Amino acid sequence: LDGSNITVWKYRSLLPVKIDPVTLKEGGTPLYRAERLEKEVGVRRVYVKHEGLNPSGSFKDRGMTVGVTKALELGRKAVACASTGNTSASMAMYAAKAGLKAYVLLPAGKVALGKVAQALMHGAKVIGIDGNFDDALRIVREVCSREPIYLLNSINPFRPEGQKTIAYEIADEIGVPDRVVLPVGNAGNISAIYKGFKELREVGLTDSMPKMTGIQAEGAAPIYRAFKEGKEDITPMENPETIATAIRIGNPVSAKKALRAIYSTNGLAEVVSDSEIIEAQKFLAAKEGIGVEPASAASVAGLRKLAANGMLDPDETIVCVVTGNLLKDPETVVRVCGEPVKVEASVEAVIRAMRA
Ligand code: F0G
Repeated sequence: LDGSNITVWKYRSLLPVKIDPVTLKEGGTPLYRAERLEKEVGVRRVYVKHEGLNPSGSFKDRGMTVGVTKALELGRKAVACASTGNTSASMAMYAAKAGLKAYVLLPAGKVALGKVAQALMHGAKVIGIDGNFDDALRIVREVCSREPIYLLNSINPFRPEGQKTIAYEIADEIGVPDRVVLPVGNAGNISAIYKGFKELREVGLTDSMPKMTGIQAEGAAPIYRAFKEGKEDITPMENPETIATAIRIGNPVSAKKALRAIYSTNGLAEVVSDSEIIEAQKFLAAKEGIGVEPASAASVAGLRKLAANGMLDPDETIVCVVTGNLLKDPETVVRVCGEPVKVEASVEAVIRAMRA
């Protein structure tokens, strides 16, 4: 396979598909050393894995390349998902490549503009529902049980198989870190990355596991709440709300798996406020040159909070997974940064504006 060495399909022997993959060269994302962030949080080594640099701009592509390939292998003609945006953008893109019909259900008015634009342009049938993500997921599961449509949410077991390659890539590049920090919404990704590291241990490539550390938004934090009480499962939150619309989820479908991943690695769950999320987004963009969407910045916001609360060992090696690209959500950027200043078209006016 041409170029396979830099994609998810580098790990083909560990991925459960038989046919040639539907690939857009996903995976192989950069792992940046984040020195200013290290200083800030007082930890020896902090890396940021920029999943926003996947073809559709999020980590979802790792799962979709496998999930859509599986749909073809099974002879399916149509695929569907519920989404807070990124899953739908990615599914639409891979369905286009595969020649499959795509249907996406979104919570109307609560999906970042860039993501809707992608789903539309890649040719999916986009249906907004008057409800939240949890409602959309319940409905699409029922629809797919009645209609001959292949469901591609992360309850589909092949999606996490692709996403577990995040763990393989990290281990390939720097070995198994002490801690992996990532945002948690529907809880598929934390479970998938945990599985990836667990497999490396099971085949004897390592005997260590990273402390899996899940970060949620304050207004959408059922897993954090369960963790605080030492519970194995969550109580769903009825009306989740956060500026990080990607993780605006009250009833995560993989909650139990996520909690197991956290407990069994001696990891942590933490919550961050919307303003902490935006501050972290700005810090990453302006101090590290890493442009991410709000949900992704939750991992860094969580890291800062854990550091401030003395929860981190200064000798740790930490990887923050940032999950989606800055360009996904331009409307929030304009809201929090303001519009550019506007001046008359003269040298004097421009210099005045520069000095202001
Ligand atoms: N970060 C981003 C940018 C996301 O889009 C998502 C989930 C997450 C983090 C959380 O990952 O659900 O595996 O815990 N987005 C889904 C979607 C729900 O529909 O795009 P998770």
